[in-house]
Amino acid sequence: MYGLVNKAIEDLICKEFGEDKWDEIVEDSDIGVDGFISMDNYDDDITYSLVASISKILGLSPEQVLQTFGKFWTTYTASKGYESILLMTGDNIEEFLFNIDELHSRITVTYPEMTPPKFTTHKITDNHFELEYRSDRSGLAPMVIGLLEGIGERFNKEVSVSQISTIESDGVDKFSFIIN
Ligand code: HEM
Repeated sequence: MYGLVNKAIEDLICKEFGEDKWDEIVEDSDIGVDGFISMDNYDDDITYSLVASISKILGLSPEQVLQTFGKFWTTYTASKGYESILLMTGDNIEEFLFNIDELHSRITVTYPEMTPPKFTTHKITDNHFELEYRSDRSGLAPMVIGLLEGIGERFNKEVSVSQISTIESDGVDKFSFIIN
């Protein structure tokens, strides 16, 4: 994945646990990279190794690490120059949930080799949505839970997000998104 993602992981860890912990994590992960460039494309294994080492060193499950990272992502990207794209994505939660693919399409101008996930959103009621998530990558569903929680936070709404099904073979994960 693009360095932007790995850099965000680094920023999150340094902010919450300090640079010494980050150095320990990098050493443990054996990724052989010291510092990421946002616009460089890195092997996905680097991201997965970082998540595994963070989990080991901080005593969190990999799912917790991914969910926490997902929740951080919207505020992180907003602070790194993408607030205008986030604004274009939606003035309210409903609009935003229907436009995530469009958001990534806009990003591909900057990151041409990215392989973004695909989302299909269904409106169940005014406060209840279901989202299908498709990705070429595996194991990132917990990150999606955090991302959706982060969208709730962006719009100052209490939301409950849960995964309602996994069909591993089709690469489709389904989520329920409720605005409380
Ligand atoms: C302005 C905000 C955003 C930017 C700049 C951005 C950019 C990116 C980039 C560069 C990647 C790495 C893909 C690659 O290198 O192949 C990525 C991955 C991802 N993005 Fe976004 N994104 C944004 C917002 C969102 C939002 C709001 C969601 C909400 C669901 C989302 C969901 C994901 C997921 C789940 C991945 C992991 C890759 C995968 O599932 O295969 N992103 N994004």
